[in-house]
Amino acid sequence: MIDLRSDTVTKPSPGMREAMAAAEVGDDVFQEDPTVNALQDHAAKLLGKEAALFVPSGTMANLCAFLAQTRPGETIILSEGAHPYHYEAANVAVVGGLLTCPIPDTLCKLTPDQIADKIVQIDDPHFSHTTIVAIENTTNRGGGACYTTEEVAAIGGLCRERGLRLHCDGARLFNAAVATGGSAEEYARSCDSICFCLSKGLGAPVGSLLLGTRETIYRAHRFRKLLGGGMRQAGVLAAAGLYALEHHIDDLREDHWRARQFREAMEAEGLQFPLPSPTNILYIDLEDAYGWVGALADEGVLVLPMEATRIRVVFHRDITDDDLARAIAVFRKRARKG
Ligand SMILES: Cc1ncc(COP(=O)(O)O)c(C=O)c1O
Repeated sequence: MIDLRSDTVTKPSPGMREAMAAAEVGDDVFQEDPTVNALQDHAAKLLGKEAALFVPSGTMANLCAFLAQTRPGETIILSEGAHPYHYEAANVAVVGGLLTCPIPDTLCKLTPDQIADKIVQIDDPHFSHTTIVAIENTTNRGGGACYTTEEVAAIGGLCRERGLRLHCDGARLFNAAVATGGSAEEYARSCDSICFCLSKGLGAPVGSLLLGTRETIYRAHRFRKLLGGGMRQAGVLAAAGLYALEHHIDDLREDHWRARQFREAMEAEGLQFPLPSPTNILYIDLEDAYGWVGALADEGVLVLPMEATRIRVVFHRDITDDDLARAIAVFRKRARKG
């Protein structure tokens, strides 16, 4: 099967598996796993942050970031399409006692003006105070849209001015970095906390990193424990992450290139792409999304239905040029059927 449902379906490469097999391990709950420590140090250096924490998932990275920087009853400003708003089982409300203030935007990006409009800081017991802003880079529901480093810096400037924390859900931060030419470190500079996933386009089987000041990460570490995210001989997983950071970042360019080739070929067939999609996530609007999903699967191509009239197609490192050609042929056949 050619699996275009998500970049989370990537499998560890042979080199990554070798690195995992050779990993030195210890008990990370005692902070004694040398490979986890090496991954955290490497990530902190790469993003120019004081400290990093290895967590099992992007969901836990976001939640630990919110818990470490807020108190129950406070408000998070975020996009209406943001992953924590849509896809994280209302964890910020259930676990954090937090209110969300979602802002609508087709690309799921926020601007300083949109944020400024929603900040609540008045001294009145009726209201929940805004204390944190969360942006997503790249945006999942926004079709892989990315912020430039200047856009993030402008949001960071507003947050500093208004005494708010800025968290970046950088599940696909390196996709944004290779697409815009901005470095992960430049993106991180404007944010109080930032996380990225190893288990998406970077191709590792498990794991995310949360980064911030020593104090924020110290607090996040406690919440990782509270959430049951303390892992023991996690060095086998951290080794995959280190391998991904050392060998796989540049390959993201190829995923973006294949996504572009696919889109151009399909636009020539008259398919409608509602979003610009500069990275690896494409949406296609169709009259009968479920019909398409079934027909494509019958021909060996998996895509994700988003709504009755929209599908998602995601390129990743396990899709070769041959897979791309085959996917285009299968889509073309279906498109010409009408
Ligand atoms: C933007 C974004 N943030 C967070 C996550 C959550 O990551 P995980 O599935 O590792 O919990 C995802 C997962 O797809 C995502 O796309």
